[in-house]
Amino acid sequence: MDIILAPSILAADFANLGQQIKEAESAGAPWLHIDVMDGVFVPNISFAFPVIDSIRKITDMVFDVHLMIVEPEKYIDRFIDSGADFVTFHAEATNGIGGCIDMIKRRGCRAGVAISPNTPIDIILPYIDKADMVLCMTVEPGYGGQAYIKAVEEKISELRKITGSDFLIQIDGGVNNKNITEPVLAGANVIVAGSAVFQGSITDNIKELTAKCAQL
Ligand code: DX5
Ligand code: ZN
Repeated sequence: MDIILAPSILAADFANLGQQIKEAESAGAPWLHIDVMDGVFVPNISFAFPVIDSIRKITDMVFDVHLMIVEPEKYIDRFIDSGADFVTFHAEATNGIGGCIDMIKRRGCRAGVAISPNTPIDIILPYIDKADMVLCMTVEPGYGGQAYIKAVEEKISELRKITGSDFLIQIDGGVNNKNITEPVLAGANVIVAGSAVFQGSITDNIKELTAKCAQL
């Protein structure tokens, strides 16, 4: 199965961010997951434009920007200006899911729609044809290092049945070498990992996760 690994820089050492991104890239990770939190949609604040503008200059990795912010439509253009390749916003954070997808796609960027663990997939089904990716959160958004919620695998299987094999279904939160098999078999094909990549040897972690996915 073709699985895409997207290390989440939320778990990186920000004093050595550039160096750690280069290590992730050299180890073979194709995407970089970039978590933006506003302290309103989620009870935490991360980082935004200055960081993304800077790291865009040092790598050609696919920038997968995960917006955990209210009214994403206000900032979508600015994140695309910063160099996002994918912009993923939360279905729970806007009244205009279709409009946000259009804004992103009009700029030649790819659009993802995220749902939190307790949000049913019904909310995003009308937009599957327009969107490029659905992100099924496997933790409550807001923090890295939380425990993986296994119940989300049911939504992943259901979604995979509806979308067919090529569509991008991303999982994010608590994923590691020990629990990655089940969600991938359920249909996830884009795997975000923060702690499981940046704690310890980035190179070894990426190689192990990549090898594991290659066996599935
Ligand atoms: C949580 C973020 C995740 C987080 C994942 O709100 O969206 O991307 O960084 O980190 P781990 O893999 O440590 O759960
Ligand atoms: Zn994320």
